[in-house]
Amino acid sequence: MKAVVYDTYGPPEVLHFEDVERPAPRDDEVLIKIHATTVNRIDCHTREANRSNGRAIMILSRLVSGVRAPRERILGNELAGEVEQVGGAVSEFQVGDRVFGLTGLGFGAYAEYKCMRESARIAHIPEGMTYEVAAPMCDGALNALWCLRLADLEKRQKVLIYGASGAIGTAAVQLARHFKTDVTAVCSTKNLELVKSIGAARVIDYTVEDFTKNGERYDVIFDAVGKHTFARCKGSLTPGGAYLATDGFRNIALALWTSRFGDKKVIFQLPPVYGKGDVLFLKELAEKGEYRPVIDSVYPLEKVIEATKYVETQQKTGNVVLTVSG
Ligand SMILES: NC(=O)c1ccc[n+]([C@@H]2O[C@H](COP(=O)([O-])OP(=O)(O)OC[C@H]3O[C@@H](n4cnc5c(N)ncnc54)[C@H](OP(=O)(O)O)[C@@H]3O)[C@@H](O)[C@H]2O)c1
Repeated sequence: MKAVVYDTYGPPEVLHFEDVERPAPRDDEVLIKIHATTVNRIDCHTREANRSNGRAIMILSRLVSGVRAPRERILGNELAGEVEQVGGAVSEFQVGDRVFGLTGLGFGAYAEYKCMRESARIAHIPEGMTYEVAAPMCDGALNALWCLRLADLEKRQKVLIYGASGAIGTAAVQLARHFKTDVTAVCSTKNLELVKSIGAARVIDYTVEDFTKNGERYDVIFDAVGKHTFARCKGSLTPGGAYLATDGFRNIALALWTSRFGDKKVIFQLPPVYGKGDVLFLKELAEKGEYRPVIDSVYPLEKVIEATKYVETQQKTGNVVLTVSG
């Protein structure tokens, strides 16, 4: 089958096409013919071995994905496609079923086919949803769900989402609305209407207003793009409030410290843990019209380098999709 592979860590140009062996499903696996996948930050960070995040994180990154060279040659951790073949013990899926899911650190979606266990993070695509919309259902939303669930939203109702226009941010706005919180979203001018349309009660344009200086207090501040700090947000948290982080190793130490000392908490748990149940939860929300991934642009797999360079500008709105033609 055709696949995009890489054999050394480096810039987007290390990605190239190769004919590789088509996988065959084991007893408990389905073989998925991939129609769409995505380029997200995990693909980019893994491909460059987190070189841009400092030496310590680069070493950690290589310990996870391969010290000298990448263990998984094919990137892509989200997919949408059609079940082509099923193993003998599979009962949930049949040949021809339309499915979406998250392969996680196993990656492998920049290809024509991928095998996944039926118990893995895959589910049927909601009725009427295209492969292009289904492919980015998981990564941003599962990250957002993981963070929001840790925040005890029943007690903490007034939520500010900083970086509300990214993959995690656009999902976080919709999930926070589902959890019946009062959502204020922060983004740049060009994305104000979008984040309002997906459920933010209020929007703040960070190019004209600094939310840390407007006198408002929030029970939760969710930094969905890793561009803020607890220190800067602290004064805008209510007593007992929580700062949710998606990035920044300093937040691990702060989370440990604030769990014991002080009234305001940093919440950041690694690694995020989510399972098939969470994917089914997103599917249900999509069927109820409460969640739909925001798509910035769609590229053919052949333009994976161009798509990757765009994602690395850190200016995408929502998600970047790759279509895979057979
Ligand atoms: N997605 C993943 O796989 C993943 C997994 C784990 C952790 N993370 C981390 O989570 C963070 C978010 O990832 P993501 O994929 O959701 O990001 P993303 O989609 O790449 O975020 C892009 C958005 O960030 C906004 N942005 C850029 N600079 C900003 C700034 N200074 N202040 C506020 N917003 C800014 C831009 O919108 P505006 O023009 O509106 O500002 C843009 O729409 C990253 O730090 C990433 O490393 C990501």
